[in-house]
Amino acid sequence: MRKETDFLIIGSGIAGLIYALKVADHGKVCILTKSRAEETATKYAQGGIAAVMYTPDTYEKHIVDTIIAGDGLNNKDIVEITIKESTARIRELIDWGAQFDKNDSGDYDLAREGGHSERRVFHHKDSTGLEIERALLSKIEDHPNIEVLENHFAIDLITQHHLGIEKTRKDKDIRCYGVYSMDLKKPGIWTILARTTMLATGGTGNIYSNTTNPSVATGDGIAMAYRAKAIVENMEFIQFHPTALYHPTEKPSFLITEALRGYGAVLKTIKGQEFMKKYAKQGSLAPRDIVARAIDNEMKLSGDDYVCLDARHINQNELIKNFPRIYAKCLSINIDITRDMIPVVPSAHYICGGIKVDEYARSSIQNLYASGECASTGLHGANRLASNSLLESAVFSHRASINAIDKVSSIDLCEEVPDWDAAGTVLNEEMILITQSLKELRALMSSYVGIVRSDLRLKRALDRLEIIYRETEELYDRSILTINICELRNMINVAYLIIKMATKRKESRGLHYSIDYPRDAIDGKSMLMNHK
Ligand code: FAD
Ligand code: SIN
Repeated sequence: MRKETDFLIIGSGIAGLIYALKVADHGKVCILTKSRAEETATKYAQGGIAAVMYTPDTYEKHIVDTIIAGDGLNNKDIVEITIKESTARIRELIDWGAQFDKNDSGDYDLAREGGHSERRVFHHKDSTGLEIERALLSKIEDHPNIEVLENHFAIDLITQHHLGIEKTRKDKDIRCYGVYSMDLKKPGIWTILARTTMLATGGTGNIYSNTTNPSVATGDGIAMAYRAKAIVENMEFIQFHPTALYHPTEKPSFLITEALRGYGAVLKTIKGQEFMKKYAKQGSLAPRDIVARAIDNEMKLSGDDYVCLDARHINQNELIKNFPRIYAKCLSINIDITRDMIPVVPSAHYICGGIKVDEYARSSIQNLYASGECASTGLHGANRLASNSLLESAVFSHRASINAIDKVSSIDLCEEVPDWDAAGTVLNEEMILITQSLKELRALMSSYVGIVRSDLRLKRALDRLEIIYRETEELYDRSILTINICELRNMINVAYLIIKMATKRKESRGLHYSIDYPRDAIDGKSMLMNHK
């Protein structure tokens, strides 16, 4: 089974869809998505998308906030490009039909989130991602050049390796010819040949036991790119969102948006004591890495399973009007946020690193682009500023489209690529082999590679991961492929990259905190003296 296209896109979140809309007038577009098109992290985004629109905000202020949050590890040129293009990208989303909330005077009602010195977050109540995904998908449906293949799982990128030519990661002439993809509704593996390929596969949250990410976030794009010998970077910087609803039986964890703290909600212990002022002068609205570590510390000191977010002092009508989804969700488990404190815990939320790309979202592999959460542009440095992720996707999918449109007619399809070879594989009848390995993977990542790390914890994680890796590779080689074995393999690859890069970083920086390399003062105080 073979298919040919000009622009192949893996992923139907904000990054994939914006790129698709931009290139669609210049050739045939094929979008692969492993679930239904709307099932993406994008759809779950609550707080919003950051952009500079009105005074007193300025590009300079947003640039500075991004670099402070990123602990100075950001690529300054990329930060400048992203922020200076933010206004144009927001206007474009609005032109495409995305509706952001306005205030009584007709201006956009911009919200504030942790680490932002100004109000600059465009939002649609507390369901911004759903609104953006809706608007983009409805434009996609109308475009005759765009084909969306749902329930199609991309297994591997096709490169010279599949023609029997081996390359190393240092080679500059590795080429991407498309992907092998599994139709999850019918047996068989497709060879999809493409002149250009865009990876927009999102994040990796499911390698942890608790995550805000939907189940599709298994790091497939990063793992595929790494196996194809692309350069991957900054994987140690995993962002834990400080405030996921504490509801242990639910997966994924329901997010309580940072915008609620921006609206005045305050973090407290179960006993009702405010604690964030001990850790940062911005209190509950400090950057996420600081808040997540502070909560982790408070939970370890008190032995409690969660802390609380107190919104009871906020005007009841305003609270319900601005946060209807959170109000309804909490009420469904008997928490009335106008009267009760909300139990919250940190939860794996976002990966700052990924496939290394340049200012046009080009990876180190020829004809392969990456945008959105799977890419590492250098914008976030060691920690992402809230609501900069949707913005980054919009900016770099736009930039990728400029480059891809320019190049596409000069790239030939590689017809010699062989079809997938499944000879000698048999059906794996024992799901337990996969589910147990997945449990072990999540347990080791959560225990040893979480908010607070150490050299010993990372070594333990790697030793245990190696066992799961060997067993899974052996199972993969002899099994008829299923999505479960492919995702497990990808998650193991991603976990390996995170542990390896965390081990190499001999300092505490941004989201990577190691008790072996303590950072004395954060915000003038030694917040982590008691950190376990
Ligand atoms: P996604 O939207 O996750 O899309 C990934 C796509 O890739 C999916 O279609 C998936 O099916 C597909 N895919 C993956 N692997 C394969 C494969 N092997 N084969 C085929 N298809 C594949 N960021 C902000 O800026 N502001 C916010 O307010 C905000 N809130 C958030 C709230 C939550 C609960 C979460 C989880 C994240 C939030 N983020 C927020 C982060 C942001 O939503 C994501 O980083 C962003 O949406 C990622 O977009 P994307 O297009 O890269 O990936
Ligand atoms: C949130 O709404 O708190 C999430 C924002 C983000 O992840 O950028």
